[in-house]
Amino acid sequence: MLKISSLKKLVTDQMAIDLGTASTIIAVKDRGVVLDEPSLIAVNELTEEIVAYGQEAADMTGREGRDVSVKAPLIGGVVADFERTKKMLANFVKKARSGGSNIALSAIMTMPSDVTHVEQRALSNAAEEAGIGKVFMMEEGLAAAFGAGVLPTDKRASAIVDIGAGTTNVAIIAKGSVVHSASERFGSNEINAVLATHLRRHRGLQVGEETTEFLKTNFVSTFIPDDISRSIDVRGRDVQTGSPAAVEITTGEVYPVVEAVVRRIAELVKDTLTELRPEVAADIYDRGVVLTGGGSLLDGLDQYLRSYINLAVSVAEEPRYATVNGLVKLFDDPKLLERVSRNDLGILQNAEIPFEA
Ligand SMILES: Nc1ncnc2c1ncn2[C@@H]1O[C@H](COP(=O)(O)OP(=O)(O)OP(=O)(O)O)[C@@H](O)[C@H]1O
Ligand SMILES: [Mg+2]
Repeated sequence: MLKISSLKKLVTDQMAIDLGTASTIIAVKDRGVVLDEPSLIAVNELTEEIVAYGQEAADMTGREGRDVSVKAPLIGGVVADFERTKKMLANFVKKARSGGSNIALSAIMTMPSDVTHVEQRALSNAAEEAGIGKVFMMEEGLAAAFGAGVLPTDKRASAIVDIGAGTTNVAIIAKGSVVHSASERFGSNEINAVLATHLRRHRGLQVGEETTEFLKTNFVSTFIPDDISRSIDVRGRDVQTGSPAAVEITTGEVYPVVEAVVRRIAELVKDTLTELRPEVAADIYDRGVVLTGGGSLLDGLDQYLRSYINLAVSVAEEPRYATVNGLVKLFDDPKLLERVSRNDLGILQNAEIPFEA
């Protein structure tokens, strides 16, 4: 049995790690977020060496040198390239540690829910090897809920929808536990994909990731636009000739393309809410749904969902940091940490290993 006293020791100087498809976010108690970088690496294809990590790799995207390619080792919430995911995580942990005098003795970490247990264990080992004494694992939905302000003591149910880059996760939380959840390998990156496909097929323009991301965050809306002729110039490569080119697109043109993706997210939420026990459903009816994750920042998404499910919908404060903020909160509550960490990985059983401070 794990003693609370030994856990208390573990939770001093702790690091919270949210390993996501799009970004990895690391926070340290009392210092807040110390690292927020794209989950990307740049690889030299000839030597297979990793030449850059995170933001530095992202800055090369689309304009890589001939032998270098930028890769996302986690795709759609799945570890596509395990060895490189490990190296990336180790790099981020080292960077986060050198950010201050704080030495992390242990960490709480979330990772995409589809990562297998074997992979989870190997990834937590990678973090441990990068200088963390002990790594606890926690379910992402629960961490996001705590970060969005759900109290672990609350007996009534709350609904949290995390819209990440590669996954959408609906979690129903009561008394600090997940009572129901559903997730799909489908997230905000799908919007980039449909925008790129639309431009290529219908406008004959090939565009890069930077362009679709710009359109998504600055031009796209999930409202039916008041002015469907508001337009923007988009630059890229002409599909026919290969030459640099530009086309003008309008809000009216992209609205239906994006709406199809948003509708699918709304359907997942709606379907999940029909699977609840009556008391839980009653709580959600009263309280509505809270959105977390970067995808919830899409203009008008909360209003769209509100009218789709006919319930109150709000966006959490700092939605991209909800998960890591939830992990940080556990530092103050070792008892809760003990309960919510995944002990099916055998991690908690090992936690009594003598500790050198
Ligand atoms: N202002 C914005 N408007 C629209 N979308 C945004 C905005 N900011 C970020 N995003 C999108 O949010 C997504 C990243 O969200 P988040 O950081 O929560 O993902 P993640 O945790 O890495 O992914 P996952 O949880 O799927 O593993 C990206 O698809 C990004 O394009
Ligand atoms: Mg996430």
